[in-house]
Amino acid sequence: MTEERRSFLRNGWHWIRLAAIAVLCYPLLRFVKFKAPRKPRLVKVEKQLKVGDVYLDEDFVLFHDESETWAVSRICTHLGCRLNFSEQDHLLICPCHQSMFTPKGERVAGPAKRNLPRYPVEKLSGENAKGFVVSL
Ligand code: FES
Repeated sequence: MTEERRSFLRNGWHWIRLAAIAVLCYPLLRFVKFKAPRKPRLVKVEKQLKVGDVYLDEDFVLFHDESETWAVSRICTHLGCRLNFSEQDHLLICPCHQSMFTPKGERVAGPAKRNLPRYPVEKLSGENAKGFVVSL
């Protein structure tokens, strides 16, 4: 065997061992719920909200009252249906199995066990800027 061929085989075994380690570690990382940190998705809401206004986006609901502006997820924590806002009851209601949440995202009723996640909201500043940025 030439030296070149031996070197090629040695390097090949090296890569095969690394691939085997990666394949073996993947289920272990999944088991301990390793999640790589992800960059937040910023959604701009170019709308001036009055006190008591509610803005429905595909992924979140933005509420605005006299003291603060906040956003909660619009995805139900039970099985992931999209929530609707009932102005009459002032609740977020799931059309699938009728879980209910307060505007602050707290679970009130239904099969969902967890509250809705809240998202950070920033008010746009500047002369011509109006609206909010929600970090999903
Ligand atoms: S998906 Fe919302 S209550 Fe089941």
